[in-house]
Amino acid sequence: MDSVENSIPHLIRDIEQLEEVKAQKELERSTLETQNKKLQYRLKFLKEAVAEESKKVSISTENDSLTNLHSILVNLFIKAIQKAYPSLDSVQPAISAGSKFADYQCNASMQICKLLKTKGENASPNAVAKKIVDCLEPCDVIDKVDVSGPGFINIWLSRDKLRNVLQYVQVNGLKPKKPAIRQRIVVDFSSPNVAKEMHVGHLRSTIIGDGICRLFEFIGHDVLRLNHIGDWGTQFGMLITHLQDKFPNYLTVSPPINDLQQFYKESKVLFDNDPEFKKRAYECVVKLQSMSPDHIKAWKLICDVSRTEFKKIYDRLNISLIERGESFYQTRMESLVKELTNKGLLEEDEGRKIMWGPGSSIPLTVVKSDGGFTYDTSDFAALKQRIEEEKADRVVYVTDSGQSTHFESLKNCAIRAGVLDPTRVRMDFVGFGVVLGEDKKKFKTRSGDTVRLVGLLDEGIKRARDKLIEKERDKVLTAEEMQLAETSVAYGCIKYADLCHNRNHEYVFSFDKMLEDKGNTAVYLLYALTRIRSIINNLGDNCKSENDPISLDHEKEWKLAKTLLRFPEVLDKISEDLCLHHLCEYLYEVATTFNEFYDNCYCIEKDGKTGEIIKVYTGRILLCKITADYMDTGLNILGITTVSRM
Ligand code: ARG
Repeated sequence: MDSVENSIPHLIRDIEQLEEVKAQKELERSTLETQNKKLQYRLKFLKEAVAEESKKVSISTENDSLTNLHSILVNLFIKAIQKAYPSLDSVQPAISAGSKFADYQCNASMQICKLLKTKGENASPNAVAKKIVDCLEPCDVIDKVDVSGPGFINIWLSRDKLRNVLQYVQVNGLKPKKPAIRQRIVVDFSSPNVAKEMHVGHLRSTIIGDGICRLFEFIGHDVLRLNHIGDWGTQFGMLITHLQDKFPNYLTVSPPINDLQQFYKESKVLFDNDPEFKKRAYECVVKLQSMSPDHIKAWKLICDVSRTEFKKIYDRLNISLIERGESFYQTRMESLVKELTNKGLLEEDEGRKIMWGPGSSIPLTVVKSDGGFTYDTSDFAALKQRIEEEKADRVVYVTDSGQSTHFESLKNCAIRAGVLDPTRVRMDFVGFGVVLGEDKKKFKTRSGDTVRLVGLLDEGIKRARDKLIEKERDKVLTAEEMQLAETSVAYGCIKYADLCHNRNHEYVFSFDKMLEDKGNTAVYLLYALTRIRSIINNLGDNCKSENDPISLDHEKEWKLAKTLLRFPEVLDKISEDLCLHHLCEYLYEVATTFNEFYDNCYCIEKDGKTGEIIKVYTGRILLCKITADYMDTGLNILGITTVSRM
């Protein structure tokens, strides 16, 4: 009897240990499952992309302003390699543009030799390259292919074919055809908080998010631009209590709150120091969440003041957004919590209810100990709403990188709860680094306060104006033109300075730098564009032959054309990685390549004495025109308004 009793604690310990192992295995299993799902999704995505691209190859005879030449070539070579070496698993050939010896170059031979060697086959890179070339299907964008040196495959593009594409752009403008699959894309960006300062972090989110929306809208997707405003939660308890005290007749007379930040600060002081106030504030939260009409009215009043402030910024920056704040999800949060409870996914944790996502480092707090909901709850309910009600194919979140773990947990929990099926819906977290001041510290005013955005935009306008006056542009431009140039430069440079850096990095906010007219800046690009436009405008009636062929014979003409034709490749790339700086780099390259062309190729000849135009090279003027078209389109995707004179 004794020994049996003695073994009980051992058994219990063993059972506990087994339970622990079981839990551990369970966690591993679901992590693997998620990984598997992710990989499956990636595979499906890649297969679809390949299928899409191979369709493109066969229709490449059609003129299309958004033909991605690079991917046509990649797919053509993938096919040829498969045909030449069927035993090899898929080889992704590296194809690069801009080599000195050809228009494009494919360097897959070395890699293939190595792969063949592992299978016991020996072949020289040169022989491999030749075999691949023999297996290439005919394609109308290619003029000639040959093999040089140790197996480099040189590709020359067909100027006639590409002239047709450019000619198509010249006639139809740079408008894409309908995308093969029109996606419903929800972009959650900007998203400031009511009664709190909208700061430079929100400005970054606004600028980057708007750029992403513009990109998808340009491609032809169905984009829902959502402002996930922080308009719900405990801060309203104290705000409403303070409102009741300060403006007791707020229900009938609209209270004159101009400075909501100040109002917020006052109520915070009361909340922290006056226990009676604090108690009432908590009661207010409960009443608000149970939708008491008076409290809802007070809440609306406060939100209205913030909304007016936010709108000033959006109007100035020409940003459109649909407001759908956290409050929108109140009833959805209630049913979500029921659902998660029923599925047994919530765990008790010191009075809170939390949920773990497989592989996440932090859980989501779904219900607080006082029964209230959190940032996590509203994001969970919002994701569900976006997938189920908005029928989103892709959901994009644009916030500072500090929130990446929050969104990682959200994704994992949503997958675990069966809300998100990553093989059907793609969820992207678009993070960004902090904005620094010129002292390389967090961007603040001299007194250490957060920088007010309205003030920042005002300063931008003033600086842009000073710059234009310094260049004596006010002597040349009309008052109206000056004003247009000023806003275009001011807001353009603020946006561009943000977008031209890899968004994952921090960047230094410097008006001096962003207003420089040399280097990769908005000012440089805007000047370059107005210069091209004035070349065309100065011709007046002297250039009418729109039907002339675009001239592509000169080396610099061809270089410019090839650069322009890389535009679709850049758009495809940023649709994938959502890094808009690739587009900035591309536009800068277009501008510099244009300068090279313009310095080397006469577009107009003038009489030395009279200054009269004696000859117009129409084929080149057309090249100027489409260059302007590409630049204007690119800048518009970045949210930058261009001008005809500055
Ligand atoms: N209001 C949040 C903030 O200021 C940003 C919200 C981002 N969007 C979201 N769905 N969580 O940090």
